[in-house]
Amino acid sequence: MRSATLVFLSGLVAAASAHFQLQFPVPRGPFVEKNEPTFCDGYAPSANANRTEFPLDGGFISLNSEHPIWTLGVELSTLQVATSFQNFSGAVPFFQVTGAGAFCFPVDFAASNITGLQDGTNVTIQLIFDGGDGELFQCADLTLKSGLTLSNTTSCQNSTGQTVVTATSASFPTSSATSGSSSNSSSSSNSSSAPSASQTTTTSSAALAVSMSAAAGIFAFAGVLLAAF
Ligand SMILES: *[C@@H]1O[C@H](CO)[C@@H](O)[C@H](O)[C@H]1NC(C)=O
Ligand SMILES: *[C@@H]1O[C@H](CO)[C@@H](O)[C@H](O)[C@H]1NC(C)=O
Ligand SMILES: *[C@@H]1O[C@H](CO)[C@@H](O)[C@H](O)[C@H]1NC(C)=O
Ligand SMILES: *[C@@H]1O[C@H](CO)[C@@H](O)[C@H](O)[C@H]1NC(C)=O
Ligand SMILES: *[C@@H]1O[C@H](CO)[C@@H](O)[C@H](O)[C@H]1NC(C)=O
Ligand SMILES: *[C@@H]1O[C@H](CO)[C@@H](O)[C@H](O)[C@H]1NC(C)=O
Ligand SMILES: *[C@@H]1O[C@H](CO)[C@@H](O)[C@H](O)[C@H]1NC(C)=O
Ligand SMILES: *[C@@H]1O[C@H](CO)[C@@H](O)[C@H](O)[C@H]1NC(C)=O
Repeated sequence: MRSATLVFLSGLVAAASAHFQLQFPVPRGPFVEKNEPTFCDGYAPSANANRTEFPLDGGFISLNSEHPIWTLGVELSTLQVATSFQNFSGAVPFFQVTGAGAFCFPVDFAASNITGLQDGTNVTIQLIFDGGDGELFQCADLTLKSGLTLSNTTSCQNSTGQTVVTATSASFPTSSATSGSSSNSSSSSNSSSAPSASQTTTTSSAALAVSMSAAAGIFAFAGVLLAAF
C-alpha cells in the first residue's frame, strides 16, 4: 500500500509540472519548458518567420502530451505578425483527451469558420493546452497550400488507448494575454480565460489514470472514440 501511495504521489508531482510538445507542424522555436505558459512559448512573432507549408484543406497536427488528461484547442491568425490572443480566432474547438503520449489529429482549416484562407495564405496557429494546472501555448508559422499532401514519413500516431471527447465549455483566450516577454509562468496562468471549466473529470479518475500510467506505462481505457473532426 505504501508503494502504491508513493507511485500515486510521484505521479501527481510529475503531472503538476508536465507539459506538451508540438511535433508537427514545426513549432516557432525549440520547446522551452519554462516559457510554455506564455504566448507562443515565449517566441516573438516575426515578419520573416520560417514557415512550414501546410495543407489548406486537410492536414494533421501531432504532439506529445505529458499529462494524462488534457484539453486542447487550436486558434489561428492570418496576420503576418500576430502579437496577441486578440489576433487569433478559434480554428479547432476544444476537445478533451484521456491518455498521455503521442497524439495526432486531422485538421481542415478550409472547413473552419475563418475567412480569407486560400492557397498561399500565411497563417500562425497557436495550440492551447491545459492538463489541469494552467494553460500552455506553442505556435507554428505556416503557409497554407491547396492540395498539398503531407509526406507519409512525417510521424502521425496515437499512443495506445486514448479516449477523446469534445469539450464544449472551454473558450479561447481573447485579450488580456500579450506576447511572451510580458508574462511568465507565475503570472500568466491567471491572465487569460482558461478552459479549466471544461474539466469534468473527477479527481479519482485522474488519480487512477496517473497510477495506471506509472504502473503500466500505457493506458487501456475502454471507451467509445468520438471522432470530433
Ligand atoms: C509569407 O511570409 C513570408 C515570411 O515568412 C514572406 O516572405 C512572404 O512574402 C509572405 N507571403 C505573403 C503572401 O504575404
Ligand atoms: C529561420 O531559420 C534559420 C535557420 O534555421 C535561422 O537562422 C533563422 O534565425 C530563422 N528565422 C527566424 C525569423 O526564426
Ligand atoms: C492585434 O493585436 C493587437 C494587440 O492586442 C491589437 O492592437 C490589434 O488591433 C490587433 N489586430 C487585429 C487585426 O486584430
Ligand atoms: C462554425 O460556426 C458554426 C456556427 O457558429 C458552428 O456550429 C461550427 O461548429 C463552427 N465550426 C467550427 C469548425 O468551428
Ligand atoms: C509512402 O508513399 C510512397 C509513395 O507516395 C509509397 O511508395 C510508400 O509505400 C508509402 N509508405 C508508407 C509507409 O505508406
Ligand atoms: C488519434 O485519435 C484521434 C481521435 O480519436 C483521431 O481523430 C485520429 O485520427 C487518431 N490518429 C491516428 C494517427 O490514428
Ligand atoms: C516572473 O514574474 C515575477 C513576478 O512578476 C518576477 O519576479 C520574475 O522575475 C519573473 N520571471 C521571469 C523569468 O521573467
Ligand atoms: C492566480 O490564481 C490563484 C488561484 O486561483 C491565486 O492563488 C493566485 O494568487 C493568482 N495569482 C495571480 C498573480 O493573480
